Parts: sequence; structure tokens; C-alpha cells
Amino acid sequence: MNAPTPPWWQTAIIYQLYPLSFQDSNGDGMGDLPGILGRLDYLASLNISAVWLSPIFPSPMRDFGYDVADYTGVHPWFGTLSDFDRLLKGLHSHGMKLILDLVPNHTSDQHPWFLESRRSRINLKRDWYLWRDPAPGGGPPNNWLSFFGGPAWSFDKVTGQYYLHQFTPEQPELNLRQAAVLGALLDAMRFWLDRGVDGFRVDVPWLLIKDAEFRDEPENPNWDGIDPHGRLLHNRTAHQPELHAIVRAMRTVTDSYPGDRVLIGETNVPDDELVQYYGTARDEFHLPFNFRLIYARWDAREIRRLIETYEAILPQDAWPNWVLGNHDQPRIASRAGADQARVAAMLLLTLRGTPSCYYGDELGMENVTVPRERMRDPQALRQPEAAGVFNRDSARTPLPWDGLANAGFTREGVEPWLPLGGDGPIRNVARQSEDSQSMLAFFRTVTSLRQRHPALNRGDYESVETAADGIFAYTRAAGGQRILIVLNFACCEHLLDLSELADGAEILLSTGMQRTGRVELRRLRVLANEGLVLHL
Ligand code: GLC
Repeated sequence: MNAPTPPWWQTAIIYQLYPLSFQDSNGDGMGDLPGILGRLDYLASLNISAVWLSPIFPSPMRDFGYDVADYTGVHPWFGTLSDFDRLLKGLHSHGMKLILDLVPNHTSDQHPWFLESRRSRINLKRDWYLWRDPAPGGGPPNNWLSFFGGPAWSFDKVTGQYYLHQFTPEQPELNLRQAAVLGALLDAMRFWLDRGVDGFRVDVPWLLIKDAEFRDEPENPNWDGIDPHGRLLHNRTAHQPELHAIVRAMRTVTDSYPGDRVLIGETNVPDDELVQYYGTARDEFHLPFNFRLIYARWDAREIRRLIETYEAILPQDAWPNWVLGNHDQPRIASRAGADQARVAAMLLLTLRGTPSCYYGDELGMENVTVPRERMRDPQALRQPEAAGVFNRDSARTPLPWDGLANAGFTREGVEPWLPLGGDGPIRNVARQSEDSQSMLAFFRTVTSLRQRHPALNRGDYESVETAADGIFAYTRAAGGQRILIVLNFACCEHLLDLSELADGAEILLSTGMQRTGRVELRRLRVLANEGLVLHL
């Protein structure tokens, strides 16, 4: 009997696209939906299965779309609802799915709900947000902190109360204990699901519910003294048990549509909490995002340990996933080093579980230094003096398409919304497309391998002992097919004896794209910074 076909999102490769930085079509220096539509062939050439768009909704852009002013529209910077429908149709006709960002924890302070809510204490929408009186002696109601620096409370002079915001003050937090608020958000989901979107990535789900009594958070005894937000333990603002009912409600709506729509969570939480977001009856997120590779030290032993830990803690029937980069984190080629960019991509795309790739990593894009006067990221702008705060602009810069003016991202003479990296003339799509051994060519080959081999896209995982420092190896197996992956995290060559697995193997892909043919596993040579995919 054949194994049942898994839902598409299990064997899928997800590609996160930052719409402002993908392709400008109207010469305003900012990427837009028609721009993406014009690049469908490129997206299809990456062998990806789904595109996840960071927010495209109307927004004053204080946090670049994560401050939503209308959940059911398209910001004019990106185009119109018709452009959106065209893009969705285009992606579907190219065999790709579309995932939208859903930001349920907070709105923009310009959202009509908040404009109403702040009008008076007796407004019908007052309790759609979290309003509190000042502390008895004056000042904020408690000691809660914003992720973006300073207190999580802002005072509203008109009504004499504070409102809660854990990001910028322009992102007031919704009161999800109110059924009407949840109902309105579920309606917004239905709006897009009715149009045909294939799922959502849900922003900061671990913050959706706060302590009902608004008690202070305790000091963190293990504070590193660096991260301002880490000074407190967040046991009153994060991971409150009642939030799971909200995720379940979102899942019910998602599942009520045909076609295996997917619900993904930005679960930036520790391991023991992470697994809870699958739901006790697997009725919460299909994919609670796993950021272990993002925070890992780039070291073979460390990476092996975290993969084994994650595999071990996954509840039964819970499908794994891996994220290597996103719009909040330094780029992988800067984090792991340019020499390791291919090893990192090979790792992501050969592990068990749905991989999420970040746009531009297929070219090996690195963090771009953004001069102070062009900085946009509110997280960095609001805490210029704080140590260890990453300027997220560096990982959100325009994709370089070619060696022409503005790298083909926008018209000549127009200033792109964020500066292009200085390496655009050499690191760009056109140039790498002509080179059969480029990072882009490598990326396309490894994604195609994953798509073609069930061992890679759904097979079992097993670590392999190698006794070599800096080497991490594992096998993936399905339906009688076994694939060995050997990754060299070090800058020295190794000679391995893996003859316990088999006498010989066929090289399916090497990161340098030059090695092919059969190799003897008793004396397997692995070059510095090299990764190999071998058919056993
Ligand atoms: C998430 C987003 C981040 C945003 C924050 C507030 O972490 O990924 O970009 O700033 O939520 O919405």
C-alpha cells in the first residue's frame, strides 16, 4: 500500500519575500506587488513551493507594515487589491502557494478601532485595547518593557490612561480576551482565505494574552546586562495559557477551507514552550516556526546537538520545520561567514521538516551597512545607544537583479528606500544565472534535489558518527532510498571513513558543484567548507 500523500506544506519549501525590497515597478524606490508579479519566472526557477509575504496591508509604516491600519486592504505603496488578486492567480498558475502575514497582537494607532478606543473611556471600543490607570504615585501602571526600548506603556492625555504596546508606541496592543476582537480578526482571515490565500504566518503569538491582573514582571537574575528587554523575566506578558484557545480558533477557521490551508506561528520561544504550539490535539499551528538555527553558534557539534534535541522533543505527529533567516535577523552569510553560506543552505534544504528560506540568501547576500541618516528600523532607531541591538535594515535591503543602475531594483536616478549593497555589480541574479557554479545555481540545484527525492522532503532523519571535528553528517531515508549528507563546518579538509554505511556512494551534489561520480566511503575526502549530498 502506498503511504498517504502528505499535505503540501509538509513537503514544501517556503520562501519569505520582503515586498518592499523585491522589485519596484513604478519608480518610487519601493518594491510592490506588480514588481513581484513581473518576477514570477524567477520565483518558479527557485523550485520553491510557497511565497510568504511580509505585511502588505495599509499602514503608516512605523514598523514597516507590522503596524496594520486595515486588515483587509493593500497599502498603496504595494498596489491595489486587484494587483493582489493578479499576483495570487499568477503564483497559483506557476504552481506556487501564497502565505500572508497576520498581525493579531497589535494594530497601528491609526487603525479605526484604536482611533475609536482612544476617544473616551466609555467608547464602545475602549476595551478592544489594553488601557490602565497610572500607578498610584503616577507613572506607568507596571514595570513591563517594550522590545524596542523603554516602558511598554504610553500615556494618553485626553483620557488620562496608559495603553500597552510592546513594540513602538504606534502599535497599541489588542485585548484578545474580548470575543469581539478575536471575531474581527477571524473575519479578516476569512476575507483573505475567501480570496484564495493558502495560509498565514501569525506574528508574535506568544504575546497574545497578558496577565489579567497586570502584575509586575520579576527581575531576571541571569540578565546579560546587554539586552535591555532581557532585564525582566516575561512571565506576565509572554506565554499565558489562555492564548492557546486563540490559536485554536485561528486554526479552526483555517481548516474550514478546502485545500490544506496552513497556519504558521512566529513562535520565538524556548523549546519546552515551542512544542506546546502544535496543540495538545495537534489543533494549533501546523508549523510553529523553529528558530534554533537562527540563534545557534555556527559549529558542527552545536548544530548536531540542537537538531537532535528538536527531533527528540517533537510531539508525535508534529511535523518539524527549520528557519535560517528572516527580516528580523542578521543574514546567514554574515552570521556563519560567506564561506559557509552554501553549507548552511545545504543543511536547511536537507533536514527533515519544512524549510523557510529568506529572499536574497539564494545569492549569498550579506548584511548591508546602512548609514545612520538612512536608517528606517524603529527597533534600532529607538535604542541607538543600547548594545547588541541589530539594525534590521541591514537584512532588508533591495534584491540586486543585474549590474545596471540601482541593480535593476528600481529605475535609474531613483533612491531606493534602503541602500543597495555595494556588491550588487558582482552579486546579482543576472550574473549568477549565467554562472553554472554560482550560489544561485547551487541553490536551484539543492531545492530541485529536495523536491525530487522523497528521502529529502519527507524521509526519516538519523545522525551519523564521524569522529571528525567540524563535520556534521546524517542520513535521510524513505521508501528504500537512502541519502547521506556530509557538511564541513571547518576551513580544513577532512578524510573520513564512513564505510559502516556502505562501500561507496554517488555524489548527487557538492557545494562547489564540481564533484560528481562515485566515491569510496572508506576514504571520503571532504574539502574545507564543503557539503556533499550522496546517494547510498
Ligand atoms: C515580529 C515581526 C517583527 C515586528 C514585530 C512586531 O517579531 O517579525 O518584524 O517588528 O513582530 O510586530
